Amino acid sequence: MGLAALGLAAGCSGGPGVAARPHPDRARDVPSEARDVWDERYATAEYVYGKEPAEYLRSRRHLLPAGGEALDVAAGEGRNAVWLAEQGYTVNAVDISPVGLAKARALAEGRGVAISTIEADLAAWDPGEARYDLVVVFYYLQRDLVPRLQAALRPGGVIVFETYTTDNLAIPASYGPRNPDYLLRPGELRALFEGFQVLDHLETRDERKAVDSLVARKPGGP
Ligand SMILES: C[S@@+](CC[C@H](N)C(=O)[O-])C[C@H]1O[C@@H](n2cnc3c(N)ncnc32)[C@H](O)[C@@H]1O
Repeated sequence: MGLAALGLAAGCSGGPGVAARPHPDRARDVPSEARDVWDERYATAEYVYGKEPAEYLRSRRHLLPAGGEALDVAAGEGRNAVWLAEQGYTVNAVDISPVGLAKARALAEGRGVAISTIEADLAAWDPGEARYDLVVVFYYLQRDLVPRLQAALRPGGVIVFETYTTDNLAIPASYGPRNPDYLLRPGELRALFEGFQVLDHLETRDERKAVDSLVARKPGGP
């Protein structure tokens, strides 16, 4: 994922650092550019994206499986992963940034829950086949990853996806990416999950952001 795509200009302050610690899940061959930029962004005591889950995720709790295995894709500092653990899921959180993942583990510990973190480049990472009941993706668009995430869901599993759209380009105050490669086109989110059962679809357009959100269920299962 390109760096300009990720709204890096906004709120990227310095301050007290969170040290990057070696971790058993650390990938040996993660390309350094994206990792370094995100590590720098997260190297502050502040949680850049906050400690509370995305509102869309929390508000759609009733559409999610009762429990099981969950994957938080591009999990960052873990706001969603930790909330999912609090809901009773067994959570894997994958991201390229060891600094972000260290903060995710600290957040989990502080809340008295456990998550597993995986440091990996999603450009090449294989999430496996039919192993998750729930996959969540917030503010990370990598189109060629979508089929892998679909395969990683069990039949009947649910995906929750939310990110910026091209309408965001008309919102100067937005933190979102400016590169259209990383923005959903009109109708694209539903099209990416063609064949899935759409449980909810929301288009948010306000003075701060233009995002599309989706909850969809993989065919099959109980
Ligand atoms: C905008 S942040 C969203 C974080 C989190 N999903 C949230 O909503 O709080 C995008 C995340 O994507 C991660 N990321 C960027 N490129 C990546 C890559 N190639 N592989 C894995 N993670 C990546 C960054 O480290 C960052 O945590």
